[in-house]
Amino acid sequence: MKLSLPKIIQGGMGVGVSSVQLANTVSRRGQLGVVSGTALGLTFARRLMQKGNEAYVEAMKHFPFKKVIERIQKRFSLKSENDPFKMVEMPTIHPSDDLNDLIVVANFVEVHLAKQGHLGVVGINFLEKIQFPTLASVYGAILAGVDFILMGAGIPHRMPDVINKLFKHEDVSIPIKVVNEVKTDVEMSTFSPRAFAQGEDLPTLTRPQFLAIVGSHTLATYLMKSEFGSPDGFVVEMPIAGGHNAPPRGRYPITESGEPVYGERDLVDFEALKAINMPFWLAGGYGNHEGLSKALSLGAVGIQVGTAFAFSDESGFEKELKKRVLKQVVSGDIRVKTDIKASPTGFPFKVANIEGTLSEEAVYQARRRVCDLGYLREAYRKDNGTLGYRCPSEPVDDYIRKGGKIEDTVGRKCLCNGLVAGIGLGQKRKDGNDELPLVTAGDDLKHLSPYINLETYSYSANKVLDILLS
Ligand SMILES: Cc1cc2nc3c(=O)[nH]c(=O)nc-3n(C[C@H](O)[C@H](O)[C@H](O)COP(=O)(O)O)c2cc1C
Repeated sequence: MKLSLPKIIQGGMGVGVSSVQLANTVSRRGQLGVVSGTALGLTFARRLMQKGNEAYVEAMKHFPFKKVIERIQKRFSLKSENDPFKMVEMPTIHPSDDLNDLIVVANFVEVHLAKQGHLGVVGINFLEKIQFPTLASVYGAILAGVDFILMGAGIPHRMPDVINKLFKHEDVSIPIKVVNEVKTDVEMSTFSPRAFAQGEDLPTLTRPQFLAIVGSHTLATYLMKSEFGSPDGFVVEMPIAGGHNAPPRGRYPITESGEPVYGERDLVDFEALKAINMPFWLAGGYGNHEGLSKALSLGAVGIQVGTAFAFSDESGFEKELKKRVLKQVVSGDIRVKTDIKASPTGFPFKVANIEGTLSEEAVYQARRRVCDLGYLREAYRKDNGTLGYRCPSEPVDDYIRKGGKIEDTVGRKCLCNGLVAGIGLGQKRKDGNDELPLVTAGDDLKHLSPYINLETYSYSANKVLDILLS
């Protein structure tokens, strides 16, 4: 079945910023609401431990494999407000059955809730760089009937094949990158839907569309030729977009404040893009009144918008944090830095200068380095030949002991804990140094004023849609 294509994609924003409520609101309006699929196993477990998330508990009951749900219900229960969250296993190439349960169900629940109460389409966004939970996540989303899967932050050339197999409950595998190793198909992450279902009935599923998020027409062309099948369309993201950005091509200059400089070679060739003859949406700076018509005139089907939705009432950002951001926007005291150090992935990452968050040097320095969520860890080969896991944002001594270079640890931020704290699910620490947020946003953050109610310092996602579609 071919779906009719939406003009507006509300971008997938991790961790949890593209919430169930946001995606649901956008989908109700006939556009594409997208939930973030990043670290859902973790955030779902934390929601089960936190009061006020009854909808998530209810949604679990719709999951087709009942034994899985019984196991999860036994493992997670409500905690007292001031207690820390119980730890959840960090993702690796070989997750335990418990972690797989959590990941599949978390993705199911997120999509299921986003689809409630309307007949619109819903998407889920993944990052190619975060490989370990990918297969279980995609399966969970497909079980819930997700209509679109979007993936960026890497080269997602295997995804069409993965999706084609998972919707038929076939076994899947993807190679995991091991640092400094050239051969790519040595270590495989695998997932078997039949083994996962443990004999319970397998429902008939529908194949979602796959949209690859790319930074250039060159990558789009490459993906069209993949032996693993081609995407059903592209989101073409410019470097002023929020979140992670593709780095400039080749060697590039860096400003004094540590920002990459993009040049002629990074400009998208829209004629070449059109020649691919696939639907595409433009992202990065299109979240305004003129954005849609500009994109249409360049041959796009529509636009993907992040920043304008990220600070709306329905987004997952914690309420008070959102207000703080919008007050800074109105006062003009707002700046977004394209930081080439902050993200452990090595990709440039946009960081907004928000008071009391990890963007402030003193707050960043006061944080004790700890790595206990582990979504951005990379696999490395230990001396005994087995795989180990490390992250440049973990305690420096640990990283070096694992063969990492000290220069790679400088300026690195713990995106996992910082982003999770931004949606009100931050960890409480026994020593009182609770995890504080890190806010990412696109360069367009400073242009949000037309959306903001100056009495409440807030606005709704519907207002964003009204302005975008006007
Ligand atoms: C808070 C925030 C988090 C984001 N996280 C992700 C993400 O996890 N995955 C992704 O593909 N894009 C992510 N993005 C990019 C958006 O999906 C979207 O493409 C981009 O924001 C569009 O540009 P704009 O911000 O100028 O509207 C994020 C953007 C923001 C603002």
